[in-house]
Amino acid sequence: MNQIIKKQILNPTVTLMEIDAPMIAKKAEPGQFIILRVDENGERIPLTIADYNREKGTVTIIFQIVGASTEALNHLNTGDYIQDFAGPLGKATETEGLKKVAVVGGGVGCAIAYPVAKKLHEQGCEVHSIVGFRNKDLVILEEEFKNASSKLVLMTDDGSYGEKGLVTDALKALIEDGNQYDTVITIGPLIMMKFVCSLTKTYGVKTIASMNPIMIDGTGMCGGCRLSVGGKTKFACVDGPDFEGFEIDFDEAIARSSIYKPFELKAHETLCN
Ligand code: FES
Repeated sequence: MNQIIKKQILNPTVTLMEIDAPMIAKKAEPGQFIILRVDENGERIPLTIADYNREKGTVTIIFQIVGASTEALNHLNTGDYIQDFAGPLGKATETEGLKKVAVVGGGVGCAIAYPVAKKLHEQGCEVHSIVGFRNKDLVILEEEFKNASSKLVLMTDDGSYGEKGLVTDALKALIEDGNQYDTVITIGPLIMMKFVCSLTKTYGVKTIASMNPIMIDGTGMCGGCRLSVGGKTKFACVDGPDFEGFEIDFDEAIARSSIYKPFELKAHETLCN
């Protein structure tokens, strides 16, 4: 069992929790994830590690309340315990040798983009972070991104904060301004990553997308997280979650991501009624 050391509501649907998990904190790297179960009958929830503190022995997770299991997790408070907390799983994001990178995050995906930006920044890489949200109320981690980036562009769909528009608008403008990125790293909704990749493909800029499909075991055994990448079947939990963006079959990933929506809605209604 792992104790919740801190709980912070970041916006009406997104919560941060710092979890006591010294063994995981010791080894965690940006891009890796954990799988947790709220209680012994709980669904396994994969969440990318948003931060870690090796000295304190804590791991930070940031999650969006999207269904019954994340709702149940959000019912827990500081001092409560999580049944299982396993990790770190997956491969860490490759940051070695990168000199100039655009990190493009969308919505709660920014929680995953932030540790990547932070690590690159600590390595002396020039980081341009482009983060997008639907509106001002949903903005998270603005200060953290400021501290981890040489340039931060914050976009909102409705223009209620930052610049009005999509992350792809900002990325296009930066590329056309003459910024030559070694890599673009994108993390967020599938549709956003699809459009980031189609934009960067036209400019020939290498792009890595962090995929977060349905996961069950997290060890490459169940096939739940399968994706088509470069015409081959890959498992996000062991081969990823990062993949070459131009190779990913996003349309298939988008179709697979909604397979369990009706069951999820029913479970959520049952929990909340
Ligand atoms: Fe089961 Fe990846 S989660 S194979």
